[in-house]
Amino acid sequence: MSLKNTTQDWGSLARFLHWSSALLIIATAIIGLTMEDIDVPTVYKLHKSLGLTVLLLVAVRMIWRLLDRRPAYPASMPKAQRLLSDLAHLALYVGMIALPVSGWIMNSAGKRPLPLEWFGLFPVPPISGPNPDLRHLAHEVHEVGFYIAAALLAVHVLAALKHHFVDRDHTLSGMTPGVSPLPPKE
Ligand code: HEM
Ligand code: HEM
Repeated sequence: MSLKNTTQDWGSLARFLHWSSALLIIATAIIGLTMEDIDVPTVYKLHKSLGLTVLLLVAVRMIWRLLDRRPAYPASMPKAQRLLSDLAHLALYVGMIALPVSGWIMNSAGKRPLPLEWFGLFPVPPISGPNPDLRHLAHEVHEVGFYIAAALLAVHVLAALKHHFVDRDHTLSGMTPGVSPLPPKE
């Protein structure tokens, strides 16, 4: 498989970035939802380090996305559906940026910024000064944004499964190693 996308399929770099981000985001979200109950500082640190890694990956991913064209949509896909798909993907990118950035701001804008380290390896500087209103806003974005992103993700997954099992096109197989399109229905 080539590193770059082809007209039909996503290349190996786009696939790696998609699936590694997906796994990281799901792990970060599960930890985010449970860490208050666990209430162990290391778990909070893990959430923050994983979330910052998502931000790094999405930056690489967006640069690569601008350098390489996306594979063509299946010929059978109506124009309006392509537009909706583009909008949904754009919204997923916004979520992948807004969630870690709002977390980072929450961490920075308190009375005194909380120390932030990437997996204990090096310090990550605050991205704002103390600002209670900004901290509150970032908290809202982090919490409400998460639920909006989760709903969008559910639609994304259902759309991928519909393409694969109902339309039987190359959408899911084009992004997923080891998956081939199903034979067309009778
Ligand atoms: C993809 C990245 C991220 C996702 C999906 C995510 C998701 C979540 C979720 C689901 C919660 C629980 C929300 C709630 O019920 O209140 C949460 C809380 C939290 N997150 Fe994140 N997060 C991400 C990145 C980050 C980053 C990068 C930081 C900081 C550098 C961070 C800091 C926090 C903090 C401090 C809380 C606790 C907020 C509170 O006090 O209620 N998150 N996150
Ligand atoms: C947190 C998890 C996920 C996020 C944030 C995410 C995000 C995205 C984004 C932004 C794209 C568009 C790529 C681009 O145009 O650059 C995409 C494509 C795709 N995703 Fe996901 N995804 C996630 C999980 C999943 C899962 C679990 C599946 C499968 C069930 C999936 C299936 C696909 C497929 C098949 C494509 C290619 C769509 C096409 O060719 O038009 N994704 N994903």
